[in-house]
Amino acid sequence: QYELSLRPQKLSQYIGQHKVKENLSIFIEAAKLRQESLDHVLLYGPPGLGKTTLATVISNEMNVNIRLTSGPAIERPGDLAAIVSSLEPGDVLFIDEIHRLPRAIEEVLYPAMEDFCLDIVVGKGPEARSIRLDLPPFTLVGATTRAGALSAPLRDRFGVLLRLDFYDEEALVEIVLRSSQLFNVEIDRLAAREIARRSRGTPRIANRLLKRVRDYAQVLGDGAISHSLANQALELLQVDPLGLDHIDHKLMIGMIERFRGGPVGLDTIAASIGEESQTIEDVYEPYLMQIGFIQRTPRGREATKLAYDHFGYTYPEQ
Ligand code: ADE
Repeated sequence: QYELSLRPQKLSQYIGQHKVKENLSIFIEAAKLRQESLDHVLLYGPPGLGKTTLATVISNEMNVNIRLTSGPAIERPGDLAAIVSSLEPGDVLFIDEIHRLPRAIEEVLYPAMEDFCLDIVVGKGPEARSIRLDLPPFTLVGATTRAGALSAPLRDRFGVLLRLDFYDEEALVEIVLRSSQLFNVEIDRLAAREIARRSRGTPRIANRLLKRVRDYAQVLGDGAISHSLANQALELLQVDPLGLDHIDHKLMIGMIERFRGGPVGLDTIAASIGEESQTIEDVYEPYLMQIGFIQRTPRGREATKLAYDHFGYTYPEQ
């Protein structure tokens, strides 16, 4: 609940992602003018950039309810039937990690998305028959870290595809200032910038760092977050100047030391540091590519000169 209160409720309070907001506000306005439900929306991009937040913003702007669930949580067709049949006209159904929806559920979802009906099989063996349930029109908002992981038929049934990108420093500064205000904590702009700079373009990380810095301010200072206090706290938290964490370090240093900077395959590097390939691809690699530390080549991943410099290694000149 407390966590939810940090989330913006309306599009006008949502900071950054200008293209997404601009498009979305037009589609929302048009749907409202026609008194229709909003077309299904697919949100994709790295974790922590505000996909769930945006789904709740959509429901608020449309003045409808939202149901939140996730791909792995829907195990049987009956689970999906129970959820969609309880929706009211125009409601938003949010499915997080929609790429992890079981294939059998996907098939039930197609007619639900396209024609707002459900074909349910009742009974078993020769007695089995299919009954058709009509549903109220609703908006499916799906979220995934990779649009490419979705099956083509599912992806094609979304009318609106929106990609969330990493936030720039300015947007993160605004988010930190806004959250500080909601926390009722005093912070100066340089301190907010320091937190923003180390948040890997990700509001969820910015808000997490802000909370920890606030703890330091309360215990070691007078509660206000000055620039020097923020620096001191971030130092103690061992957040690197680029916001890279333990796993980023392990990954980059592993590439440099064990594979001479690559090219090395994703699975090989993942196995060598004991992490899941999928986690590296979805969570760690996108930001490391964004800041130019990793390059994807046809032969695998390569660590760049920038990465060598940052971690204090000498780049091998070819
Ligand atoms: N908190 C987390 N993400 C946000 C965003 N994009 N705008 C405003 N506040 C946020």
